[in-house]
Amino acid sequence: MSKILVTSALPYINGVPHLGHMAGCLLPSDVYARFERMMGNEVLYICGTDEHGTTSEVGALKAGMEVQEYCDMNHARHAKTYKDFNLSFDFFGRTSAPENKEATYHIFEQLDKNGYIEEKSIKQVYSVDDKMFLADRYITGTCPYCGYDKARGDQCENCTRVLEPTELIDARSTISGSKNLEVRETKHLFLNLPKLEGKLAEWVKTKEPFWPDVAYTIAQKWLKEGLQERCITRDLKWGFAVNKAGYEGKVFYVWFDAPIGYIGITKQWVKQDEANRSWQEWWLNPEKVRHVEFMGKDNVPYHSITFPATLLGTKENWTQVDFLKGFSYLTYEGGKFSKSENRGIFAEDAIKEFPADYWRYWIMANSPESSDASFNWDLFAGAVNKDLNGVLGNFVSRVLKMTASKWREQVPEGGEYGAAEKELINALQQRVSDYIKYMEEMEFRKALGELRAIWVEGNNYISAAEPWSVIKEDEQRAKVILRACINLARIFALLCAPIMPDTAAKLLAKLNMPQVELKGFDVAKEMTALRGGEPFVVGEPLFERISTEKIEEMKTKYGSAK
Ligand code: MF3
Ligand code: ZN
Repeated sequence: MSKILVTSALPYINGVPHLGHMAGCLLPSDVYARFERMMGNEVLYICGTDEHGTTSEVGALKAGMEVQEYCDMNHARHAKTYKDFNLSFDFFGRTSAPENKEATYHIFEQLDKNGYIEEKSIKQVYSVDDKMFLADRYITGTCPYCGYDKARGDQCENCTRVLEPTELIDARSTISGSKNLEVRETKHLFLNLPKLEGKLAEWVKTKEPFWPDVAYTIAQKWLKEGLQERCITRDLKWGFAVNKAGYEGKVFYVWFDAPIGYIGITKQWVKQDEANRSWQEWWLNPEKVRHVEFMGKDNVPYHSITFPATLLGTKENWTQVDFLKGFSYLTYEGGKFSKSENRGIFAEDAIKEFPADYWRYWIMANSPESSDASFNWDLFAGAVNKDLNGVLGNFVSRVLKMTASKWREQVPEGGEYGAAEKELINALQQRVSDYIKYMEEMEFRKALGELRAIWVEGNNYISAAEPWSVIKEDEQRAKVILRACINLARIFALLCAPIMPDTAAKLLAKLNMPQVELKGFDVAKEMTALRGGEPFVVGEPLFERISTEKIEEMKTKYGSAK
């Protein structure tokens, strides 16, 4: 049993999560956490809301609320949505929590003590019309590197370069659109990344065999270009006050305390049961803990460079990221999700339209792993109707209904598996071990391909074995076939559990069987788990077809490509 620390990038509190957020870190991290628990490992799965920065101040202002009150409300909203999607966090916390303040202060003090913090006077953008210093994200302009004209002051979404706002060409305030911007001089603290470059490069090298391409390439590119000092403080009110004399009235930059939030949130989790939990066991234990991080590609530089460097600079023995799973974007019918333009389906609405498992299955089967993927209603309905309803759902209901109608709701007794069953078992054994291997490697599209292929094997088996014809001449043989099929249904439930937990539970309940570990999964043994005479219930179908009318309704309601 190993200890696996799983984190999902912490969603900004003021954003309304859409399918892209679900696809880009939240769902895959949950699937992975569930899978590793089922492999018998000790998993700690952490997430929470990223709450600091101007976005929250502006959001609260627009909502006419205090920032704290606004964040409390939105935190609850995020938590509810993720619960509805069955995300199995051990703790869903907040970066604004006192536990994170404690962690942030500690890390800052070590960095300062070790000489990695610099004081500098910088020029910051002040918006005369908005009467405030503009946070980097609130300045829009043209990227000096790639020419993208909607680059934000902190990062260019197009080329993923991290920017300083003053680098932007033709800068304007995102809040008011005003170009009446002044550059004013203020004193700030910087993390001296160039001084940490050697240590960091050495550390990155140790990760080469473990980091997937996206992350490793981005980290290497950064190191090659040379690291810049990063400003870690801001002239804002909402945030952790900087714990250093001379910096009164300033707070830490949101990107400084956000990743530390993984640690802070772990401390929040400990607080729920202090006698039995320890955060050091997870965060100061790199030899024993494997740390896997999930995030969208725009987050990769912070997680492969800035945050590891921050931890290295403390000279303490922190658990660092061992595997960094980065995702491209999921678009909506080929375009952007946009709340203001009423384009795309947001997570809260998605769950009102269809059960969580339909979404979980489609998103994981179409995971934007190596390139962007696009959500599309026809594809979604196709997957639900063909894969879920057609292949998996039909198999289960056909087998259970036929058995119940010929005999009763009981696994048929008597006879032995023959050549056809042995062949099926061999084919499945190979597929199951590939499925498990892909899940371990977080190759989700491939894993789901295997899962689907496993269901297809079941369908091929029953089509070839034809219990409905065999029963006319050889009832005993028909019983053997159906017993094999019922055992297959149980195997399908066990295997799909990390991806479709509700479906797995529903199917296992029909079969009156518990969920078991996937570790050392032996198909031959599992094919005899349900013996003759065991009761089952036919019950409700697992899935419902999505009608053409419903698809049309969805397209009208949420927008679609013409
Ligand atoms: N809030 C950021 C985003 O949504 C992610 C922060 S991840 C963290 O892009 F680890 F830094 F918190
Ligand atoms: Zn750019």
